[in-house]
Amino acid sequence: MKRQHIVAGNWKMNKTFEEGRNLAQAIADGLNESDTIAILGTPYIHLSSVSTAVQQKLNLKLAAQNCHQAKSGAFTGEISVDMLSSVGVEYVILGHSERREFFGENEELLAQKVDTALGNDLKPIYCCGEVLAIREAGNHLSHVANQIKGGLFHLSPAEFASVVIAYEPVWAIGTGVTASPEQAQEMHAFIRQLISDKYGEEVSQATSILYGGSVKPANAKELFSQTDVDGGLVGGASLKADDFLAIIDSF
Ligand code: PGA
Repeated sequence: MKRQHIVAGNWKMNKTFEEGRNLAQAIADGLNESDTIAILGTPYIHLSSVSTAVQQKLNLKLAAQNCHQAKSGAFTGEISVDMLSSVGVEYVILGHSERREFFGENEELLAQKVDTALGNDLKPIYCCGEVLAIREAGNHLSHVANQIKGGLFHLSPAEFASVVIAYEPVWAIGTGVTASPEQAQEMHAFIRQLISDKYGEEVSQATSILYGGSVKPANAKELFSQTDVDGGLVGGASLKADDFLAIIDSF
């Protein structure tokens, strides 16, 4: 079966209001209509303004980089899923390694965020991945399995069908070091098997699994040609319209 190809940009904490609007418009202008969904994962402050550009292309969507686990209430400085949906956000990146490392997010909290997102029809882009020491110790497969089981495997099959997974080896994020296509394929096939064991072959074969970690125009084609790699989660290269568009065109 044909899985949904997705290339999601994660702008992280970059771009002023004006720069963000210009970048989103340049991507909307240059994006070819295709079966690949392109997603802009912008800081909260940009979401509302770039939604105008996003609406110009059917295959262009909007993601937040985080959400709060509660529906609303006294949580000063936080953003709810209702607020995100109200400005046209359809996806939310959850469990990025930077959230795990710098904000102490663990599977227990992420499972709550996943539930809150799904309860508001937001599709989670659930991130997983190991640091170098864990890979060198040979524990990367079990580490990623625990992240996926702990954050996602309480979901029903119907709920799980809305989830996108992003495998991002932490040692490849922002470092210029990319996992080899074989390393990416090995982990993606492992994750797909894990999903199959839990939810069955049909759900597993329909799940989009993205690779993230120094994806560039120069390496995207080879990564995306792997059997179980269905796209990318792109940080640095998503901040330049030409690079991001070239990655989207790599399928
Ligand atoms: P990078 O970031 O492409 O700059 O390595 C990827 C990510 O953190 O999602």
